[in-house]
Amino acid sequence: MVRTNPFVKYYRQLDTGTNEEKYRIVKDGTLTVPRYLDIELTNACNFNCCFCPTGTKSMQRMKGFMPELVVKRLLEDIRKYEIPGVRIIGWGEPTLHPDWLNIVDNIHRGGVEGTLIHLGTNGSLLKESDMQALVDMQVESIKFSFQGADANSYNEMRDGGNYDRLVETVKTMYNLRGDRPYPYIHISTTLTVESEKQVSEFRQSIEPYCDYCSVGYTMLNHLSVDSMKIPEERKEKIRKLQEHESIRREYRQVCSDAFDKLDIHWNGDATLCCSDYESFLLVGNVMDMDLKQIFTSNIANLYRDTIVKGEYGRIKCCSTCWETVPPMV
Ligand SMILES: C[S@@+](CC[C@H](N)C(=O)[O-])C[C@H]1O[C@@H](n2cnc3c(N)ncnc32)[C@H](O)[C@@H]1O
Ligand code: SF4
Ligand code: SF4
Repeated sequence: MVRTNPFVKYYRQLDTGTNEEKYRIVKDGTLTVPRYLDIELTNACNFNCCFCPTGTKSMQRMKGFMPELVVKRLLEDIRKYEIPGVRIIGWGEPTLHPDWLNIVDNIHRGGVEGTLIHLGTNGSLLKESDMQALVDMQVESIKFSFQGADANSYNEMRDGGNYDRLVETVKTMYNLRGDRPYPYIHISTTLTVESEKQVSEFRQSIEPYCDYCSVGYTMLNHLSVDSMKIPEERKEKIRKLQEHESIRREYRQVCSDAFDKLDIHWNGDATLCCSDYESFLLVGNVMDMDLKQIFTSNIANLYRDTIVKGEYGRIKCCSTCWETVPPMV
């Protein structure tokens, strides 16, 4: 069975049109709620990935797990505004949240009919029974994050992870799903210095067990190595990779986040971008305002004004929203 990513219709909307066009429909009241929500159940993690602000403990934000009251509030708003999609992602490992499976189930059942759910995970904590539950719930989409292109490159960068175990987990998920349409299984990896041969072998080994395998580049330039709480030799390695990182210092033509969606952090804070791990684009908190008020707030429009003017450099997290291209080594 050939499956398509159920979220692709939203991703297309995010990438379509100019910033001006996207802003116009927010300002004239055509779009008053996010096209979909990104929800971070926690910003804690059981891995210490050396390319991630969570894994390197450089994130300044307080660590925590989404409280029940915030979940309840979100559920009310998802239902009230008929939010058609929710991605359980963010800057931690969602399956560390003690109630993660119930929350996924509640959003899925409690949302409007057809609310799509996506889960992004490092896969390390998923038991077979959890995966069976995801299949039984018919959760629409799951993404397993790899790194590099083989056991060495994965294990080196994803401290705490185990490549072979992750491959086995993906295979289990694939087998449990069988012929059912869901979940759509996405494997994603990002590279640093891996060769084409490594990538091609990786694809050959994993593609039989997924619907899509995306290969991108690990963004390192925005990371502050000095603030990482990792051994000096690992810092040196990242500095070297940063030197080789090849970045086209051009801002993206179309901002894929600020005009279309909201990202909710574990404490209910709402920001305009899923890459905003420090809440620089903070526009409200779901315990104080509802999703429509937050999405259409003056503060949200102030940030959008800045982006529409192309003044990305004035907003901390947008100032490094560069395009990363293959490293030159
Ligand atoms: C922050 S993680 C959170 C979810 C989960 N812990 C995981 O690893 O999938 C979400 C995604 O961000 C990606 N990511 C983190 N830091 C990155 C970086 N510097 N460059 C590219 N992708 C990165 C991870 O590989 C993962 O796919
Ligand atoms: S598993 Fe995900 S959240 Fe955790 S350190 Fe790695 S990339 Fe970051
Ligand atoms: S970092 Fe800024 S410009 Fe880039 S996608 Fe996010 S909101 Fe848009």
